[in-house]
Amino acid sequence: MKGIVFTEFLEMVEEKFTYEMVDDILTMKELPSKGVYSAVGTYSHTEMVTLVVNLHEKTEVPLPVLLETFGEYLFHGLFKAYGSMFSDIENAFDMLESIEGYIHVQVRKLYPEAELPHFKIERKGENKLVLDYSSERKMGDLALGLIKGCLNHFKEEAEVEMESLSDDGSKVRFIVSK
Ligand code: HEM
Repeated sequence: MKGIVFTEFLEMVEEKFTYEMVDDILTMKELPSKGVYSAVGTYSHTEMVTLVVNLHEKTEVPLPVLLETFGEYLFHGLFKAYGSMFSDIENAFDMLESIEGYIHVQVRKLYPEAELPHFKIERKGENKLVLDYSSERKMGDLALGLIKGCLNHFKEEAEVEMESLSDDGSKVRFIVSK
């Protein structure tokens, strides 16, 4: 998993909790990287899971809530870091429609080792978008937060429904309705 996901996560923990919390979650369990991340480095996905679980154990905030909150935060961080990639995108639906065919394609060009989800995206008229997420990393809650972060960024109001398409969390449907 790319380092920017880790650096954004730790920044969020410091902002929403405290710096002591960052220190706690980095030292509770042995981490392969020893808790040192560079935005352009690559680290194991399980290490991210360890940090989120540590935060959950410390704060008792449910895991799905932590992941969704992080997704919203991460969207803004990604937009800041890669803004020039989407300077032509003017609204949330255009952005969401371009995740699979453009955004993550560009990410893969920059980082061939990136572990990205797969989305099947279908526009259903002007006000509805259906996104079918699939990933072995089972981060549907993170995807929900990213979608909400995208809507917030463009100051658009829409309802986001989340439906499970598999028991193990690897396939999730999002229905975004304006
Ligand atoms: C607009 C909504 C977006 C959604 C719903 C979305 C969804 C996701 C999800 C769920 C992951 C976690 C990996 C997985 O589940 O397999 C991910 C990873 C990632 N996405 Fe997106 N994404 C969005 C926008 C963006 C944008 C704007 C960028 C910026 C270029 C971006 C770059 C990345 C990167 C760098 C990773 C990490 C890859 C890795 O760790 O190896 N995404 N995305």
